Amino acid sequence: METTKLQNIAQALVARSKGILAADESDRTIKKRFDGIGVESTIDNRRSYREMLFTTPGIEAFLSGVILFDETFRQSSQAGIPFYKLLADKGILPGIKVDKGTVPLPDSPDETITAGLDGLSERLAEYYNLGAKFAKWRAVITIKDDKLPTLAALEANADIMAQYASFCQGAGVVPIVEPEVLLDGNHSLERCAAVSEATLAALFSKLQEHKVYLPGILLKTSMVLPGKEFGDKAAPEKIAAATLSCFRKVIPNDLPGIVFLSGGQGPVEATANLQAINSAGQGVPWQLSYSFARALQGEALEAWKGQAANLPRAQKIFYHRAQCVSAARDGQYSPAMENSL
Ligand code: G3H
Repeated sequence: METTKLQNIAQALVARSKGILAADESDRTIKKRFDGIGVESTIDNRRSYREMLFTTPGIEAFLSGVILFDETFRQSSQAGIPFYKLLADKGILPGIKVDKGTVPLPDSPDETITAGLDGLSERLAEYYNLGAKFAKWRAVITIKDDKLPTLAALEANADIMAQYASFCQGAGVVPIVEPEVLLDGNHSLERCAAVSEATLAALFSKLQEHKVYLPGILLKTSMVLPGKEFGDKAAPEKIAAATLSCFRKVIPNDLPGIVFLSGGQGPVEATANLQAINSAGQGVPWQLSYSFARALQGEALEAWKGQAANLPRAQKIFYHRAQCVSAARDGQYSPAMENSL
């Protein structure tokens, strides 16, 4: 295992002022997003949409990496440049989603485990040769009353993520491990904190058991938030305190960074919460950055609507959101920046 190389990549992904764009929506997910703007999810529309994002002028100031779906990894710009190369030429590290989605857990069918370990080392070798520097694997953790998640689901997902991470490091690819605690439900902030702590404790215990090299991985995780149907939203300061308190209890110091998913929060909300976390988290041993999909893309997707004529406006909006999120990652965002578009 080339530990120095892995460590350098992980550190580059959480460099100051930068974060990761998650543009790795599966066919099913991107269809859902396109349905929302009345655009058919064809191969070419998906290609054009991703090209709009990746060719946004100056976006490399805010993006250290982009996570791609297999189809996108094999697509090219209109000018014929493979997307992984177009990104690398801008100094943005190309990454790849390698999990194969979730399947129900046999013992607890309302919960899932993530598929994709079969053939993983062969796929990683291919992506590595094409220039992939990092990979992503998402596990889904559901909160339901005091019944879910079960310890069995947490441990099964943690064990699979640790195996994935070990395969990645053997292939020279930095693994991002993503146990996403879903926002769905009416649970309180305190319940989310307890579940997040148990999820991360199980994950880091399995990573250690599988001897995964922690300075050469990143954690992608949810912020600690009350469920979508809880009623009151929590203030950013409260979210920041709960999130950091959970991390301090269970995350080892030698992890280089934590990148947040947006999880269905609105773009302004996710930006404000990231700001609060960075402002309260000065002095923690990890970089606290972003790997948003919806919160970075949502406004630009709405503006684009599948029309080439909307491209300049959509890129401007994407650039502006990335600029705000980057400022939040540095603890420098203020709501006044929302007016600077
Ligand atoms: O795996 C989840 C995505 O990469 C992050 O998506 O920011 O829309 O939650 P999100």
